[in-house]
Amino acid sequence: MQARKIGEAVWWVGAIDWDRKLFDSLIPLPDGTSYNSYFVQGSAKSALIDAVDPTMKSVLFARLSSLNVSRIDYVIANHAEQDHSGSIPDVLQAYPMAKVVATDKCKAMLMDLLAVPEERIISVRDGETLDLGGRTLQFIHFPWVHWPETMITWLPSQKILFSCDLFGSHLATADLFESDEKVVMPAAKRYYAEIMMPFRTVIEGKLGAVSRLEAQMIAPSHGPIYTKPNQIIDAYRDWASGPSKNNVVIPYISMHDSTRLMVEHLVEACAARGVFAEQFNLADGDVGKLAMSLVDAGAIVLASPMVLGGPHPKVAYAAILANALRPKAKLVSVIGSYSWGGRLVETLQVLIPALKVEIIPPVLVKGLPREKDFAALDQLAEELMNRMANPQTEAKPEPAAQTDPNTKYICPVCRYIYDPAKGDPSHGIPPGTPFDKVPEEWICPICRVAKKMFKPL
Ligand code: FEO
Repeated sequence: MQARKIGEAVWWVGAIDWDRKLFDSLIPLPDGTSYNSYFVQGSAKSALIDAVDPTMKSVLFARLSSLNVSRIDYVIANHAEQDHSGSIPDVLQAYPMAKVVATDKCKAMLMDLLAVPEERIISVRDGETLDLGGRTLQFIHFPWVHWPETMITWLPSQKILFSCDLFGSHLATADLFESDEKVVMPAAKRYYAEIMMPFRTVIEGKLGAVSRLEAQMIAPSHGPIYTKPNQIIDAYRDWASGPSKNNVVIPYISMHDSTRLMVEHLVEACAARGVFAEQFNLADGDVGKLAMSLVDAGAIVLASPMVLGGPHPKVAYAAILANALRPKAKLVSVIGSYSWGGRLVETLQVLIPALKVEIIPPVLVKGLPREKDFAALDQLAEELMNRMANPQTEAKPEPAAQTDPNTKYICPVCRYIYDPAKGDPSHGIPPGTPFDKVPEEWICPICRVAKKMFKPL
């Protein structure tokens, strides 16, 4: 186990986990992963930047031994998650002079999660520097990539950015540096989808600062090192803040083929309208692939049979996952089949409160889909196409709303009835407000369907 030099007096001393199949007991790792750790030697002091997963601490120690490292002065903890920090207690035991350097929040977490003694941790402010002798490290607080305590570390003399989870990829490879973008960029996108997408607004706001560093090398804590940093920075800019694409993602389960027939018809109907739709069978699917598709998706259609009065649990899981990942999609709909009834749509909708989406009316079918049901799916494809091509498209107001101020309106999804006599005082609509005077941004107080989707009774 040898250390590998990446710069002047800077070495990679990490571990490659070829066999790991699951991360956080949740995320599939089809290509394994790595835990990158870096050793920087100054003329006076030395620093280890992040450690490795505790299962691979022997690899870290072996690589440090290959450099004859007898003293580590600082252990830079960019992040408290255990895949990087879990072996810090062992490092502190092996190197009794070492102090951990971390943000205030990270210090508290290391004490909570790993019982690191308080006196072994130095907390650093945003922008603070640490002189190792001829090499200075600068710490840039970067909360929420991936936890609230995170920071990144900058080595200005060599323009190396140690970005920890940010820009990482779950990829086990002997290539220390990115050598094939066709391999690394999909892995980086998958990693972004699974780990970083929930924080895309934070990341979007920080990418300018990262660009201005003009790094010559970005050394993340998972996956290969980038020697052309603009490539991954630009990719992140597109993933985090670029416009969503004209894509429909359809996670589905089918128990007796009715829902599958509906999904397949919708995919074809979308294709016929120039809309790319992808179906994901959740029965045996890779949720990492689903997460990747959500990065660019313009619309999500959850497709499920009714099971015991609600959605199939695997579709409910996909809804919870999408809600946690917070993709850019602006439209959601639901399709599915039932035999005697239930609350498929309502149950799914309450699982996605974090998504800033408009609900497109669902297509629910009793039993096998028939001609009229396929026509409804065609109509859904048409609606998705129109709304994604022109997000400003407004549904035509119902004429009755303008002629009779007492007309009640019904939500097409949860059946909530807007009664002008009652208004919706808890959302600022006083009693006596006709439906056409309700602000256009008002949404169904129960299930969040847009006002424009309501129908007159
Ligand atoms: Fe790679 Fe958030 O840990």
